[in-house]
Amino acid sequence: MSVDTMGSEDLRNAMVDRLAADHTAKGLVLRPEVEAALRTVPRELYAPGVPAEEAYENTAIVTKRRGDESISSVSAPFLIAEMIGQAADALDGLEGRHVLEIGSGGYNASLLAELVGASGSVTTVDIDPEVTDRASACLAAAGYESVKVVCSDAEYPIEPGRRYDLIIVTVGAWDVPPAWRDQLTDDGVLVVPLRTFGMTRSWTLRPSGNGLVSESHRLCGFVPMQGDGAHEIRYVDIAEGVHLRLDEDEKVDAAAVEGILSRPVVEAWAGVSLPPRTVLADLDLWLATRLREGFVVLSAQQEAVDSGIVAPAWRFGTPANLSEGDGGITLTYRSALRWTDRMFDLGARAHGPDAEATVARMAGHMRAWVDAGSPAPTLHVLPADTPDGDLPDGAVLDKRRSRMSVTFTPQENHEKGVQ
Ligand SMILES: C[S@@+](CC[C@H](N)C(=O)[O-])C[C@H]1O[C@@H](n2cnc3c(N)ncnc32)[C@H](O)[C@@H]1O
Repeated sequence: MSVDTMGSEDLRNAMVDRLAADHTAKGLVLRPEVEAALRTVPRELYAPGVPAEEAYENTAIVTKRRGDESISSVSAPFLIAEMIGQAADALDGLEGRHVLEIGSGGYNASLLAELVGASGSVTTVDIDPEVTDRASACLAAAGYESVKVVCSDAEYPIEPGRRYDLIIVTVGAWDVPPAWRDQLTDDGVLVVPLRTFGMTRSWTLRPSGNGLVSESHRLCGFVPMQGDGAHEIRYVDIAEGVHLRLDEDEKVDAAAVEGILSRPVVEAWAGVSLPPRTVLADLDLWLATRLREGFVVLSAQQEAVDSGIVAPAWRFGTPANLSEGDGGITLTYRSALRWTDRMFDLGARAHGPDAEATVARMAGHMRAWVDAGSPAPTLHVLPADTPDGDLPDGAVLDKRRSRMSVTFTPQENHEKGVQ
């Protein structure tokens, strides 16, 4: 059957087959009840006017823009499936649970409604009345009137006094406001796409004392938070189609880095041998915590990579570092992998007066991560007034409404990947 002749149910099943394969390729398990919900909810009803073939592609469907920026969308199915999976794993299933979804559209809320069943509840909140009106209409058309739709800034409590077993945020956050912790039940779970060091991960966080601690995370990307929790990302262009992404209030002298990639390149290798499924998103956070001073994220257009001017490990966001020496600024970044017999090595590239030293330093940090057993990060989120002495011993990030610490616990008894 060709796509042209497939009905919506066939398209939906084909999409879910692809999602299941994608999970397997990533070493994840698509829970049967999540798979069943995905096979039930008609995604095309949340994208009116979009052809059914497009509604069942594994991508986000942008529904609102501000200038060039997307500010609302029907989220990509693979992201939704992974985040609901994170929540369902943490809560051992969602049946009977009370859920608050932050960021509406209707599709994800309908999947959640399928999963919580008649004994649970779903409230969805969006800051934009156009989005909530649209979501209400789509939910009604698809028969999910039980979902409560609220228009409000989710920075603050939604239904005062009410607590939820799950708060699932479907918009990119930079901070965790106190309201999210306060609205969770004691054994509840917050799933949130959160930016730390300029890199976004969907974290599963559980209450721990007066804060939250993570138990899983996945690579992801979302439209940005609006309202009182908004936090701007700034970009500095360093060549045609190559930018540095600045977060956490970093400052860079744009004139000093312009054209830096035209300086001679120095390359170094960590000298490790890693298997294909190694989660390098964890390495990137490790590097951010080791290269705090001057840490930035490099991103590049495909044309810039193809031209050979830059060779990042991942063109959408590669860890990089700016260091200032007597001779000027040096840029160092994690470079494309080197494959040998289905195993790969990690590389670093640098341009600038201290390039020899800075590539060696980055390669050393990458080797240290492998030596430590390729550990995953743990994120701790604490109230903004937490004294230094009460913070876990990690890389501390001071946000506006919270303090965060990222820690790594070296794995014992691992086989070293060093050649
Ligand atoms: C990716 S869309 C949500 C997708 C949706 N969950 C779905 O089912 O596909 C993100 C939404 O978050 C909303 N948003 C942004 N900032 C917000 C805030 N502070 N409070 C509530 N909603 C917000 C935007 O208006 C946007 O509609």
